[in-house]
Amino acid sequence: MSARRVTSRDQAGDAILDLFKRDTTQDAPVDPTQRLRVGIIGTGWIAAAHLQSYLAMPDVDVVAGADLVPGKADAFFKAHGLEGVRTYLSHKDMLDNEELDAVSVCTYNTTHAECTIYALEKGVHVLLEKPMTVTLDEAVAVCRAEKRSGKVLSIGFQPRFDPNMRKIKEIVQSGLLGEVYYIQTGGGRRKGIPVPFGTSFIEKDTAGIGAVGDIGCYSLDMVLNAIGYPKPLTVTGVTSAYFGTNPGYYRHHPEYAEKFGVDDFAAAFIRLEGGITVDFRIAWAMHMDTSGDTLILGTKGGLRIPSTECWNGTVGGAMKLYFDAAGSPMEAEVPILESPPSLFDLKIRTFLDAVKTGGPAPVPSSEILYNQAIIDAICKSSKLGREVEVVIPEID
Ligand SMILES: NC(=O)c1ccc[n+]([C@@H]2O[C@H](COP(=O)([O-])OP(=O)(O)OC[C@H]3O[C@@H](n4cnc5c(N)ncnc54)[C@H](O)[C@@H]3O)[C@@H](O)[C@H]2O)c1
Repeated sequence: MSARRVTSRDQAGDAILDLFKRDTTQDAPVDPTQRLRVGIIGTGWIAAAHLQSYLAMPDVDVVAGADLVPGKADAFFKAHGLEGVRTYLSHKDMLDNEELDAVSVCTYNTTHAECTIYALEKGVHVLLEKPMTVTLDEAVAVCRAEKRSGKVLSIGFQPRFDPNMRKIKEIVQSGLLGEVYYIQTGGGRRKGIPVPFGTSFIEKDTAGIGAVGDIGCYSLDMVLNAIGYPKPLTVTGVTSAYFGTNPGYYRHHPEYAEKFGVDDFAAAFIRLEGGITVDFRIAWAMHMDTSGDTLILGTKGGLRIPSTECWNGTVGGAMKLYFDAAGSPMEAEVPILESPPSLFDLKIRTFLDAVKTGGPAPVPSSEILYNQAIIDAICKSSKLGREVEVVIPEID
């Protein structure tokens, strides 16, 4: 099977890179005077980052919020000095009673799909936190609801706005690496099961999936976005939970071990359309400083992307390019580029602009669907103990 050439069709399919490259004089103009009424579903940890970014936008009124826990939404808005924001005890109550332009879905993973689908059915644009969903079936249902609604749905991958991430894509798309045929990616933390604010990331009922979805989705996006999101074909995956289920792991909360119902490690061998292989691993906890840098191998060059200690979807240091010139192997450093002050503000701003212009979504669900399909296949393969075929239904 021949390796896959990254084509201009791939470039055309990438809304994010286009945001920074395209001739903006051709875009539908963004009306700065148009105000948008925004609601927040789920007022936990990440909702605070959404709210702060919305408050920094001059054209947004945050008018409503919902949380299942009585009093939580009220306390949330009060803590941010906001008065008069109407609060509800579920996404349905809020969406049935409010006239909203857009919502942020900031709930734990297992309610991403139902909240997003309900909002889209009510004709409301959605910014959905990552991972898109827990299962592929849910992701397909979300995409179908998006298609039926004609509304904007963007998925919350703020690392996409990091200039270093864009540089990776630019390097691949420039042809410098030739045909990409192998990728090693993933990342890991020495001790980083996310329990600083409770157990919603580790309980099956709320998280659904663990490290494989929480940070695995970022590392998959880093490379799949760069190569134009080719279709996944087959996956052999394993997941495990040796750290999360050990009471000794948690210094102050040994009882969390009983609650741990997801994975804290995953590894996979993924075949993509075009003859590309992805060798993937991700860990919330491990007895190792890093599970390895990300490597992209092409027929003309290779790219090494250093991992970070606390893996959160970012580039961990200067990247290195490997290639032949004048008959000799050469190396060149790609220095780290300074990031804008808030990637989160960019995630929110590009979503709001897409709402105003009618799209395209800054991080389209059509791409993240493939990301979710791989995560789903890793979990299925691990359960079955064998390779699985990735079958993605039509979005009708
Ligand atoms: N983009 C990022 O950098 C980033 C960082 C952290 C978390 N996240 C993602 O954000 C999501 C939320 O994470 P968190 O740490 O804020 O979780 P959290 O548990 O602190 O908050 C989630 C809240 O959603 C509420 N909720 C659940 N279902 C609801 C519903 N149907 N209606 C109303 N409220 C509902 C819960 O009661 C809870 O208060 C997760 O999917 C996580 O992966 C993203």
